[in-house]
Amino acid sequence: MRARIILLALFLSGAVIAAPSEAADIDWQRVKPSRIALFYPGVVSWEFLVSEDHRLGARMIKSGRKDCRNCHLAKDGALDIKADEIASGSLKMKRSLKPFEPEPGAGRKGSISAEVQAAYDSGHLYLRFRWSSSGAGWAQSAKTPDRISIQANKSDQLFKASGCFITCHNDLSTMPHAPSKKEIGEHPAYRGKDEVSLYSVHAKSSWDKRKADAEAQKAVGLIDIKSVELGKGLARAADGWIYDEKAWEERPGFEGSGDWSEGAYTAVFKKPIGRAGKYDVAISEGDVFTIAIAIHEDGARERRHYVSLPVSIGLGPGGDIQAIRLKD
Ligand code: HEC
Repeated sequence: MRARIILLALFLSGAVIAAPSEAADIDWQRVKPSRIALFYPGVVSWEFLVSEDHRLGARMIKSGRKDCRNCHLAKDGALDIKADEIASGSLKMKRSLKPFEPEPGAGRKGSISAEVQAAYDSGHLYLRFRWSSSGAGWAQSAKTPDRISIQANKSDQLFKASGCFITCHNDLSTMPHAPSKKEIGEHPAYRGKDEVSLYSVHAKSSWDKRKADAEAQKAVGLIDIKSVELGKGLARAADGWIYDEKAWEERPGFEGSGDWSEGAYTAVFKKPIGRAGKYDVAISEGDVFTIAIAIHEDGARERRHYVSLPVSIGLGPGGDIQAIRLKD
């Protein structure tokens, strides 16, 4: 009976326990891993990135002439970002002199890295991530589950250049300019909610102002978000989208699996190709699409995660990472 109640609770929360997946049958030893660097962003937001505090970067982002990777990623894939100084709270913004992290956590690392392997067959794309971790959520020494999330989009140029940063704003809950719960509660668009979640820069100019052309941009700008949550010895898949807000679907349109062992997490996203749900990025053989990765661990919530710069994945030629074609 208890197990049934727990299962029901999981369904209601929009997450499903991962079924044992065929992904386990793939010989991952044969798929070359790529290394992706993730950094702790503190309160870095889209508004910071296009402000005088990020002067040169802001000009190039606005003109579209250079993107994050051109200026912050070395040839060997290492990040050139002062991530340790952000995490420790010592780094200040150039002009406003505001701290990049007003509430530093003791001993937090500035960056981590994850191995990514990509493969596909006629029916599915498999993305496998592996990263070193103490596994606090898995072992329940932290109350909050650990989690890996990927945002994905195929056609929006701004997402291609700036990844998840186009969804991260100064007025999200836990960010410096977040509205109060009272203000949120009084706003008609936020009825029944008490927080401002991720939203796309195409949809809104601030938490309470929708853009005039938001609807027209939606088909291209909708961002797919998929997570594998790793807690209490279980992997759970959650699937949603980001546009006016971040919302979760009742049932995931992919299979998520994962576990923690020998000091590292492994998580696999198995996503159908050739067909897609209303809120899923549609991908077929030959496509290149962009993802941005976020990892929450050690009890971290909301903005206190590690994030990647955008990474493109190709099912065929093209892309930073080319998925390997598997035999059916
Ligand atoms: C034209 C080059 C350029 C581009 C494009 C650019 N940046 Fe920067 N960024 C800089 C420079 C230079 C600094 C150092 C501060 C300054 O002088 O403005 C910086 C500072 C930062 C910082 C503060 C930490 C540090 O190392 O100083 C972060 C975080 C950051 N950029 C993230 C990004 C992200 C994310 C993008 C893409 C959305 C991006 N930048 C695009 C050049 C760039």
